[in-house]
Amino acid sequence: MAEQADRARRESYLQAMQVDVWLARDRHAPGLPDSTADAGPAAPAARPSHGARSAHGGEREFASLEALGAAVADCHLCALADGRTQTVFGTGDPGARCMIIGEAPGAEEDRRGEPFVGRAGQLLNAMLRAIGLTREGVYIANIVKCRPPKNRDPKPEEMVACAPYLRCQIALVQPRVIVAVGRVAAQHLVGSTVPIGRMRGQSYVYENAEEGTRIPLVVTYHPAYLLRSPLEKRKAWQDLKRVRELLEACE
Ligand code: URA
Repeated sequence: MAEQADRARRESYLQAMQVDVWLARDRHAPGLPDSTADAGPAAPAARPSHGARSAHGGEREFASLEALGAAVADCHLCALADGRTQTVFGTGDPGARCMIIGEAPGAEEDRRGEPFVGRAGQLLNAMLRAIGLTREGVYIANIVKCRPPKNRDPKPEEMVACAPYLRCQIALVQPRVIVAVGRVAAQHLVGSTVPIGRMRGQSYVYENAEEGTRIPLVVTYHPAYLLRSPLEKRKAWQDLKRVRELLEACE
């Protein structure tokens, strides 16, 4: 009964994503791994069950996301600071098992100070719900915390300047799975120039040697791209199922 309700809920979200709901293979063989995915990356370091966490962001150590967010709000390490209304740090559950990483705030995010709040954000919310997650239950951040002018891609030097903040954010949240949405985030996190169409479907691991963490990383299309290319939602659904499998594996 609960399984039926769960299926109905998932199907209604898939419809919200405008993905056709005739995923027979998934329904009849729920444990079947994706043919596109490798056997699976190494397990991430275990999350400590108690105690204060701290992480290095550049030269400073931050004991909390609040402290890190305050430092980000004061940041002038790159030219993007000059054009921002405010920094867009991150949102969601500070102890989330799943962390979503996009590229940079857009106009709406810059105005509201929260990542993924425009149309792309609404699709992202539907994508999350399709695998039983909520916006509030994951942690959402971007590679850079300030809006690039005219929504251009962040420049390499801007991403490098912001990287310690994201590294620190990941170390504080300690997610079990990271989802890189879009080419810019995926290439930056993986350190690759491979086109996103060839990155998705592969298994990656986000590593932070200093913190001793190895976190499975799933690459998928950016929701803004999916809004322009709805036929690709089917592939994004494959990626989301991989996220769900990884989360289930670490339950
Ligand atoms: N696109 C992103 O990559 N991040 C946002 O926060 C909004 C749109």
